[in-house]
Amino acid sequence: KRLKGKGVWRYKDFIPGNYKKIVSLNEGNTPLIKSRKFENLYFKFEGLNPTGSFKDRGMTIAISSAATLGYKIVVAASTGNTAASASAYSARAGLKTILFLPKGKVAKGKLFQSILHGAHIVEINGNFDEALDKVKKLFNKNKDVYPVNSFNPWRLEGQKTIAFEIFEEIGNPDFVIVPTGNAGNIYAIWKGFKELEKSGLIEKIPKMIAVQSSGSSPIADYIIGKKKKIEFVENPETIATAIRIGKPVNYMKAIKAIEDSNGYAIKVDDKEIIEGQKELAREEGIGVEPASASTIAAYHKLLNNGYLNKYDKGVLILTGHALKDPNILFEEDSYSISSNDIEVFINKLKI
Ligand code: F0G
Repeated sequence: KRLKGKGVWRYKDFIPGNYKKIVSLNEGNTPLIKSRKFENLYFKFEGLNPTGSFKDRGMTIAISSAATLGYKIVVAASTGNTAASASAYSARAGLKTILFLPKGKVAKGKLFQSILHGAHIVEINGNFDEALDKVKKLFNKNKDVYPVNSFNPWRLEGQKTIAFEIFEEIGNPDFVIVPTGNAGNIYAIWKGFKELEKSGLIEKIPKMIAVQSSGSSPIADYIIGKKKKIEFVENPETIATAIRIGKPVNYMKAIKAIEDSNGYAIKVDDKEIIEGQKELAREEGIGVEPASASTIAAYHKLLNNGYLNKYDKGVLILTGHALKDPNILFEEDSYSISSNDIEVFINKLKI
């Protein structure tokens, strides 16, 4: 059957709900870029969505639902990208946005976007998990606010279109690696593949592989340690602030996605994330934020430990754009060369 429309809304027949108002910025339809270095690896560059992250796919559905239902105020807790996306889509719909953000832990680009789009920002002296508690409490008390965190099922319905787009371009991959924080996206992508399987379009769904930062890895610890019960992380820490989350709301859904797909989980540390970010930027030409770079670090580890081999066809979900988080390399690299030595320098580059 031929699909009509653009991006996420191209798949509206597969998204539940009746939307009288559609709030869209032409999200989705992101490029699937073949790796230059690795034979069978592809990058799904979600950084090219309207606000620079995959969150826009879910936000278009969530805000359309809010607008259809007649809400006036949208509320979210966020490590930054949900905030930026909610602010832009609310603005587009003429709604107001209230954000709960962990003070000092939101990357500059994301905070800038939220301010620019006119959101009302409450800074929390605490981490994302505490910010999310505030949203839940507020929502329980006040039914005038519409929450757009990933416990909102419409968000995940939009995000599952990542699977549909991958399928339309390269068929069925063997594995998909997803940076995992609050754990909605890995479930959403799994759900997309599951629906393709149910409709007979694919025979076996790809292994869903969660990557977490070693300072905030409750799901990876659960899977790797074959634990009976998940242990939340009280004080999550990582340079990848997008996934600095100790108590993922969707952890049960993520574990289901991993187990059902015969997938896996893996941890990478901050150093490996930064190396991965530079590798993608300098050897593939793709600039991503640290959370997204965790996927290439994970791919290396999984090749080295034999879980994957280079013939396996796979996709790394590059969830956010490099410009989201412009602080890191300024501190780490000395990037300026002296203009006096430029001729010498060029000669060296030729070798
Ligand atoms: N990558 C990026 C760039 C993110 O911003 C997030 C989540 C994830 C990966 C993880 O996705 O939560 O579905 O497992 N960011 C949220 C936010 C928490 O508030 O922007 P997840």
